[in-house]
Amino acid sequence: MGKSLAFFKGEIIPLEDAKVGIMTHALHYGTGVFEGIRGNWNEDKDAIVVFRLREHYDRMIRGCKILNIELPYNVDDLIDITTELIEKCGYKEDIYIRPLAYKSEEKVANLKLHELASDFTLMIVPFGNYIDNEKSIKCQTSSWRRPDDSMMPTGVKLSGLYTTSILAKTEAIMAGFDEAILLNHDGSVSEGSGENLFMVIGNEIITPAETENCLLGITRDCVFEIAKNEMNIDVSSRKIHRSEIYLADEIFLTGTAAHITSVGSLDNRKIGNNEVGPLTKELQSIYFKAVRGNNNKYQKWCTEVKV
Ligand SMILES: Cc1ncc(COP(=O)(O)O)c(C=O)c1O
Repeated sequence: MGKSLAFFKGEIIPLEDAKVGIMTHALHYGTGVFEGIRGNWNEDKDAIVVFRLREHYDRMIRGCKILNIELPYNVDDLIDITTELIEKCGYKEDIYIRPLAYKSEEKVANLKLHELASDFTLMIVPFGNYIDNEKSIKCQTSSWRRPDDSMMPTGVKLSGLYTTSILAKTEAIMAGFDEAILLNHDGSVSEGSGENLFMVIGNEIITPAETENCLLGITRDCVFEIAKNEMNIDVSSRKIHRSEIYLADEIFLTGTAAHITSVGSLDNRKIGNNEVGPLTKELQSIYFKAVRGNNNKYQKWCTEVKV
């Protein structure tokens, strides 16, 4: 058991008391930048292992720059606030850490970012599996397209951008699939609704390039490093055509929530033999140890917080 707390307007308070007014700018226009960070319970260490905490806040600060959000905190301050909140909540189970920087001014008819006040809030909730990673999932190519970076910045987690992800995920679930794959406006592959996409062809691992409007995923970066260090594979990033992924030996999705998840079928076409492929399995086994702080080589990615 733990306590439900939030960091709100500079203080740690009960989560249920952290409320914003209905005129709040971000509520109407999606003018926020958020992060999704995992804290994984490690029984032996009696600690929550927060995975790639600094990199998540670095990305959030990049989003703030784009949205003209100036916070009175730097990345080190944000790490300290997060650590303190984890300690005070005291959860001894896996947690999801959700920071949000947003346009907090209660002014609905102002479309000038530079004139609006900003704030930062942080909440923590217990969090188990987002997707069962033992199995492979069924994906659908979405009828919704990933917005182009010229329409909305796509490399950071802007709140407003998630309307597209939510429409795509909902469409996929309602049609009986587990997850949506979004294409770019030109029909090339971008990513999942909340995950980056990789395909395996023979001994090659390929992912859409950064210019393909995908989020610059932190788990994506882990795959690059693990594949290089442990398998001597240089992941290539390039434009991927839609039909290429139907023919891949393996497809997997990566994300903080989804970890590394195998795709068994896409649009009702089997990928490989429909099960978790050998390369995906190998990456998963290294990654799962790393996120829980059980792989010394990747300890640099972990912040241990005793609770
Ligand atoms: C749209 C989208 N793509 C990719 C990812 C994966 O990013 P990360 O590995 O940093 O969690 C996420 C999750 O944050 C996401 O929301």
